[in-house]
Amino acid sequence: MLLEVKDLTVDYGMVRALKEISFSVNEGEIVTLIGANGAGKTTTLKTISGLLKPVSGEIFFQGKRIDGLPGHQIVRMGVIHVPEGRKPFVDLTVEENLRLGAFTRDSGDISGALERVFKSFPRLRERLHQRAGTLSGGELQMLAMGRGLMAKPKLLMLDEPSMGLAPIMVEEIFSIIKEINQQGTAILLVEQNAFMALQIAHRAYVLETGAIVLAGRADELRDNPKVKAAYLGE
Ligand SMILES: Nc1ncnc2c1ncn2[C@@H]1O[C@H](COP(=O)(O)OP(=O)(O)OP(=O)(O)O)[C@@H](O)[C@H]1O
Ligand SMILES: [Mg+2]
Repeated sequence: MLLEVKDLTVDYGMVRALKEISFSVNEGEIVTLIGANGAGKTTTLKTISGLLKPVSGEIFFQGKRIDGLPGHQIVRMGVIHVPEGRKPFVDLTVEENLRLGAFTRDSGDISGALERVFKSFPRLRERLHQRAGTLSGGELQMLAMGRGLMAKPKLLMLDEPSMGLAPIMVEEIFSIIKEINQQGTAILLVEQNAFMALQIAHRAYVLETGAIVLAGRADELRDNPKVKAAYLGE
């Protein structure tokens, strides 16, 4: 098991955002956490990456306990979080933003990492010297994911990569996520767009008001009547 989350509970002051949730991600998998607004998806990713401290529960990465570790140490272990909202440094170029993503690496393999990013995102090579503030929404998402890839993640955690994008761009982003996974990176994908997420994921968990209410293979959940009614609009 690559990532194991056990009975995780997280509060914001008096508000309980996660209630003893448990789930896992295996090597090579795409696992998706789907759920409506406020279900606790972002809270889950922030807690794994060390931005929030849980009230109780445990998080293991490659068998090592990581809850309680500082965020930079979790990043160094290969857990990379691409947050929702995809905010780059708008005054820096695409290239400068990408290079910042490699801050945990030796300078020697930065050019190799850049080539790897261009393989997934040829469009970023074309925009290399453009200021990030001038990119389209889809290109910004590509930059955010590309910056994450620069750190050579073992686990790439993506928070709502499809948010606010036109359907054709959503298709493109999801096919790139699938390709990144096929190159060997495990992915934890958080999405409100259950339809797309269930198409590329191997397994899925459904989060409702801080609790996991359903879990299983993505193709099984896609056929589940409750999932269809609540998340697929069928
Ligand atoms: N900083 C905060 N302070 C207090 N409550 C918060 C804070 N951040 C989130 N919450 C609450 O925690 C719950 C879970 O929020 P979270 O952002 O994890 O949901 P989400 O599933 O990511 O939703 P969305 O799909 O809208 O991004 C919500 O009820 C939210 O209002
Ligand atoms: Mg969120």
